[in-house]
Amino acid sequence: MSRVPAPDVSIRRGRAADAGGILALEAAFPSDRMSARSVRRFLGVPSARVLIADRAGEVAGALILLLRRNSHWARIYSVAVDPRYRGCGLGRRLVEAAHGLARRERRQGVSLEVRADNVAALGLYRGLGYVEAARLPAYYEDGAPGIRLRKPFGRPRRTRR
Ligand SMILES: CC(C)(COP(=O)(O)OP(=O)(O)OC[C@H]1O[C@@H](n2cnc3c(N)ncnc32)[C@H](O)[C@@H]1OP(=O)(O)O)[C@@H](O)C(=O)NCCC(=O)NCCS
Repeated sequence: MSRVPAPDVSIRRGRAADAGGILALEAAFPSDRMSARSVRRFLGVPSARVLIADRAGEVAGALILLLRRNSHWARIYSVAVDPRYRGCGLGRRLVEAAHGLARRERRQGVSLEVRADNVAALGLYRGLGYVEAARLPAYYEDGAPGIRLRKPFGRPRRTRR
C-alpha cells in the first residue's frame, strides 16, 4: 500500500495544542468518535500516551495508547491518518512507535479492537504481527461487529555462551 512518497513527518508526543488536529481526524470514524473532552483528557493523564505524526506543525496522524496500571497489555485506543497522507507508511510508523513505548513500559504486548470491515486497519495490524483474539458481535455504537487483535511481544531470547 505504501506507494505514495512519504511526506516529511516526524513522530512526537502529543501536547494540549494538538487537541483540535486530533479531533479533526476523528471524522474518519463512522461511529464511536471521541469527544473533545476525551481527547483533552488523554493528552493530560499518565495512563495514556498520545503520539502525533507531525508534518510542519500540522497533525497528519495520531495514535492514542492506553497504559492502564491494572493490565499487562498496552491498548491502542485510536489511530487515524489524515486521508491526504494515507498509504505512505504513517499508520505503520505510529503503531511501531506505540510498540516501542509499550515495550519500554514492560507490557506483555499490545491489544486493540477494530471494526470487522476495516480492511485498511486489518491489513496494517496483520502486517505487524497482530493475531485475532476474539470476535466481538455488535461491539460498536452502530451495531457493527469488531475483532480484538493482539500482538504479544514474547520474551527476548537469551543468547547461549
Ligand atoms: C488504518 C489507517 C490508520 C492506515 O494508515 P496508513 O498511513 O494509510 O497506512 P500505511 O501507509 O502505514 O500502511 C501500512 C499497511 O496497512 C495496510 N493498508 C493500509 N491501507 C490499506 C488499504 N486501503 N487497503 C488494504 N490495506 C491497507 C497495508 O498492509 C499497508 O502495508 P503495505 O504498505 O506494506 O502494503 C488509515 O487508513 C486510517 O486513518 N483509517 C481511518 C481510521 C481507522 O480506521 N483507524 C483504525 C481504527 S482501529
